[in-house]
Amino acid sequence: MPVELKHVTCTYSPGTSQEIRAVTDLSLKIQDGEFVAVMGRTGSGKSTLIQLVAGLLEPDSGQVLLDGLDIHARGYDRSALRRRVGIVFQYPEYQLFEITVEKDVAFGLKHSGLKPEEISLRVRLALERMGFSFEEIRKESPLCLSGGEKRRVAIAGILAAHPGILILDEPVAGLDPLARREFLQMIRQFQEEGMTVIMVSHNADAVAEYAGRVLVMAEGRLEMDGDTRTVMSDLQRLRSLHLDTSAAGQAAELLRQRGVEIPDQTVRYDELLGALTEMMVKS
Ligand SMILES: Nc1ncnc2c1ncn2[C@@H]1O[C@H](COP(=O)(O)OP(=O)(O)OP(=O)(O)O)[C@@H](O)[C@H]1O
Ligand SMILES: [Mg+2]
Repeated sequence: MPVELKHVTCTYSPGTSQEIRAVTDLSLKIQDGEFVAVMGRTGSGKSTLIQLVAGLLEPDSGQVLLDGLDIHARGYDRSALRRRVGIVFQYPEYQLFEITVEKDVAFGLKHSGLKPEEISLRVRLALERMGFSFEEIRKESPLCLSGGEKRRVAIAGILAAHPGILILDEPVAGLDPLARREFLQMIRQFQEEGMTVIMVSHNADAVAEYAGRVLVMAEGRLEMDGDTRTVMSDLQRLRSLHLDTSAAGQAAELLRQRGVEIPDQTVRYDELLGALTEMMVKS
């Protein structure tokens, strides 16, 4: 289910005094099973981009194609699109509103045409995937959970629909370091099982560690698009866009400036430690 954007432009409040061009002439293709991070400073168009991919916003011009089909063409099956592309907004915990966790996770399947037994099974499996004991959590009120738990419940609601593409807007903001790592490892596992993951994040460490490809937006345009190592080691370009590389990439740069021979394109902790360990063994 590849996603393709062809020369997409998107404007909010067109024709009014508040008109804002959020995305300009954006073209890109995302293949099945990729883990793509979207970076860019605030207001650069990241959330607009992912809402275009999910079909929640319509371009003024250009096309959004899923599996080669224009999702805004007349006759396109929009209900199929909603099932296949799951989007988790920033702070999804604020979207929980049912009286029990079980009902909340089942909500998106209400009109799916699935049998009640199939829905129950999917809800159970989705909650278990997100690390819960189904029996313990099912009758809880979402309001009584911690922020991190609420977020996992919200994501279970998306997973229950079995999306082929999972889109996450700033999923780790506000999580403590351990919760962040657990969360990202779960997402990585979904990707390893074949899901396409598109993740907006300001967290360069998370991007360097987990994404295979990075898109960098600036003022509504796609300024960088490449494999994670290449993008995250292009410090000059990143900094010209008011961004920075990962902490490991920054440490590698400082070490190089002090004459330590760290290999180019070192942007992850394990790589940095590997390079330093090898040096210590040699000396
Ligand atoms: N619903 C809206 N109505 C009008 N303008 C909007 C709307 N949503 C976003 N914009 C504007 O479109 C531009 C791109 O916004 P967008 O939300 O895509 O940026 P972003 O990269 O996700 O930013 P952030 O990192 O702050 O989440 C900004 O100038 C923003 O003010
Ligand atoms: Mg945003």
